Amino acid sequence: MKKKSAPATPALHRTSKNLAIGIDDQHLEAIAQGLSRLLADTYTLYLTTHNFHWNVTGPMFNTLHQMFMTQYNELWTAVDPIAERIRALGFSAPGSYAAFGALTRLQDVPAQPPAAEEMIRILVRGNETVAATARGLLPLVEKAGDQPTTDLLSARMDIHEKSAWMLRSMLGE
Ligand SMILES: [Fe+2]
Repeated sequence: MKKKSAPATPALHRTSKNLAIGIDDQHLEAIAQGLSRLLADTYTLYLTTHNFHWNVTGPMFNTLHQMFMTQYNELWTAVDPIAERIRALGFSAPGSYAAFGALTRLQDVPAQPPAAEEMIRILVRGNETVAATARGLLPLVEKAGDQPTTDLLSARMDIHEKSAWMLRSMLGE
């Protein structure tokens, strides 16, 4: 998926003040903002992958239909702990198409289903982009001593890099 140019950032809503967990308010807000972007990326990649599960055609149908199902199920499960980490840091979790559209770096699903090979390329790029979003947040999270978010980001990078490898391998790359 191609990156979009500078989307407007929706305002964060702080729901809990004066958290005494040893992370200052400025860091809490910046981490919640980064996790909101990761949530939007993950949800967008989930929807794209599920769409491709429905619409894939051609001689690789059975393999890709199954592979995409495994991946969209994992992505669907993944959005929950990301959203709930945002809540634990004292902010509301975004959960609308408008918010996700503004926050994500991924393109929306193509209106017309592309050929199977192009679907794979879109998902390779999508998984790489989500991994990069998670990795970009890591220095801030480590500086703030936010170990639970570090663990979450690490797990997400691992799965997205593995999915990108498996998809690339389908292309013989
Ligand atoms: Fe299905």
